[in-house]
Amino acid sequence: MMPMASRKSVLLLLLLLLELGLAVVPAICAVHRVCIVGSGIAGASTAFFLRNYSDSNLPLDIHIFEQRDVVGGRMAMVDLAGDKFEAGASILHPKNLYTVGFTDLLGLKRVTESDSSAFGFWDGEKFVFRTLQPGCSVFSKKITDLLNTLAVVWRYGLSLFQMRSHVQRLLERFTQLYAANRKAYSTVEDLLRSVELYDATQHTLADELIAEGLSAQIINELVTQVITRINYGQNATLSGLAGSVALCGSGADLWAVAGGNWRMADGLIKYANASLYLNEKVVSISSAKNLYNLSLASGEVENCDAVVIATPLDEEKISFDPPIHLPDRHMQHTFVTFVRGLANASYFNLESISSMPDLIGTLETSAVPFTSISVLKSYNDSDKAYKVFSRNAVSDDLLDLLFSRRDSTIRLDWAAYPHFKAPEHFASFILDGQHLYYINAFENAASTIETSALAAENVVRLLLERLSHGSLKTKVSIPVVSSDRKLYKDL
Ligand SMILES: Cc1cc2nc3c(=O)[nH]c(=O)nc-3n(C[C@H](O)[C@H](O)[C@H](O)COP(=O)(O)OP(=O)(O)OC[C@H]3O[C@@H](n4cnc5c(N)ncnc54)[C@H](O)[C@@H]3O)c2cc1C
Ligand SMILES: *[C@@H]1O[C@H](CO)[C@@H](O)[C@H](O)[C@H]1NC(C)=O
Ligand SMILES: *[C@@H]1O[C@H](CO)[C@@H](O)[C@H](O)[C@H]1NC(C)=O
Ligand SMILES: *[C@@H]1O[C@H](CO)[C@@H](O)[C@H](O)[C@H]1NC(C)=O
Ligand SMILES: *[C@@H]1O[C@H](CO)[C@@H](O)[C@H](O)[C@H]1NC(C)=O
Ligand SMILES: *[C@@H]1O[C@H](CO)[C@@H](O)[C@H](O)[C@H]1NC(C)=O
Ligand SMILES: *[C@@H]1O[C@H](CO)[C@@H](O)[C@H](O)[C@H]1NC(C)=O
Repeated sequence: MMPMASRKSVLLLLLLLLELGLAVVPAICAVHRVCIVGSGIAGASTAFFLRNYSDSNLPLDIHIFEQRDVVGGRMAMVDLAGDKFEAGASILHPKNLYTVGFTDLLGLKRVTESDSSAFGFWDGEKFVFRTLQPGCSVFSKKITDLLNTLAVVWRYGLSLFQMRSHVQRLLERFTQLYAANRKAYSTVEDLLRSVELYDATQHTLADELIAEGLSAQIINELVTQVITRINYGQNATLSGLAGSVALCGSGADLWAVAGGNWRMADGLIKYANASLYLNEKVVSISSAKNLYNLSLASGEVENCDAVVIATPLDEEKISFDPPIHLPDRHMQHTFVTFVRGLANASYFNLESISSMPDLIGTLETSAVPFTSISVLKSYNDSDKAYKVFSRNAVSDDLLDLLFSRRDSTIRLDWAAYPHFKAPEHFASFILDGQHLYYINAFENAASTIETSALAAENVVRLLLERLSHGSLKTKVSIPVVSSDRKLYKDL
């Protein structure tokens, strides 16, 4: 394997220097081997920040182990009858400064969703609420948008503004985490407390919104039934911070990386010049005297000075020696079904397919066995690509009711994000008091691409400070910020 070869050449070089009588290699110049488990955004950002923050005083050798044959983890694409769509994490927020910065640095293009689509809530028998179809003949798109907004405001009134200002307030606190010269925190609690976001993880979203004076109607309908259900597959009993993040993901100006969000992981790993090992599953990690042995499913053993776990450990069975202890947490499974074909208008009691909303959220009743259905792309009036979210696998029988024609079907089952419940209990970023780090300890505060990058950035500074025994000259301001100011305009 490559790393053994490069270690050998380092050894040879040292021997050569010894022979030449030049053995004045200072101890601090020893190359540290940092091993990263997982190549999702957390692992890829770890590699990037390690490279970005280290210098010749702290040379690093970065190795990434990924069990699958592609990088990106929960940023992944599906190929549905020749067209590619985001299968996992699909949208980013304009105030996601790390990811906006990554795309700039890597020369990737951001695409924004252009048209506001019509939506409706389906209760199993009828639409309890729906907006107008955009682009309908009598109205221009602008007027339709306005009427749609008025319809929503009319139904929810003041609560809508209270909800926006609640989200805005949390977003402002979150934004402080990008500030210059902040500390590297060893626990999620301390990181969140530093910007007054910890309390939001200790109460349910419903309780937080009620305290803000929101109406029960907006919580039941818009918040629970559509936003938190679609974003996280849960109702408003989820913890407040994760819930508010879901509300954030329902505003305007959302974007994605052209060609797929996974490209960020790919680009960052290459930028960091990390050694990437695909199809290599880490099965156990043992440590003694500050040295870690990573055992791979292939039988290989890797030695590392520090290990960064960049995947949730809730379902991944990696064994640790000595053992580690994690608070109880389980992953919420989300089933995503992609269909190319045509939906069945009469399932929704509609006369024609053209009157079917592009996004249909459903109410939480036993009569409705799925969470939402949306049109991803319309080829023509009788050929479309759809995405169906559900909490359980959808049967063929259900799909045969929902669709009048199915040319192609793809089913995915994601261990998607933690099941958020207040009060949240967090694992530490440092699992063994030494150099075993865990980025996804953060994930039950919120699970997004940006927060994974943010947690990785914190862990990298923690690791470098501890590895260099505090001698690291932290030159950190905001490391990755786009010059494209217009992206940061308010919600
Ligand atoms: C359906 C869905 C929709 C979502 N929508 C959004 C969204 O719109 N916006 C948003 O910001 N976020 C969204 N999220 C959440 C987002 O995807 C995650 O928070 C984020 O991608 C987590 O990244 P990660 O690197 O921490 O973990 P992952 O992406 O899960 O990466 C972990 C990697 O580790 C690898 N791995 C695991 N165990 C081992 C092992 N033992 N050895 C080697 N490799 C291993 C895995 O194969 C994987 O590649 C969504 C998630 C899902 C599932
Ligand atoms: C909301 O979700 C919680 C946790 O998943 C569940 O126990 C509860 O029954 C749900 N409530 C409603 C009204 O669906
Ligand atoms: C990247 O790493 C390899 C060894 O893994 C090294 O030979 C090469 O010089 C590095 N390239 C850069 C640009 O640092
Ligand atoms: C790690 O592996 C080396 C061999 O590469 C072995 O000598 C050492 O005992 C192992 N240490 C631990 C803690 O497993
Ligand atoms: C469409 O939905 C209706 C009403 O649920 C159902 O009777 C019919 O079998 C479905 N399938 C097709 C192909 O129309
Ligand atoms: C719609 O497009 C498909 C190919 O994508 C084609 O087979 C079909 O004939 C088209 N239908 C109409 C009504 O244009
Ligand atoms: C660190 O990242 C910044 C972008 O935020 C970039 O301009 C700089 O060149 C990077 N430095 C290194 C050493 O990678």
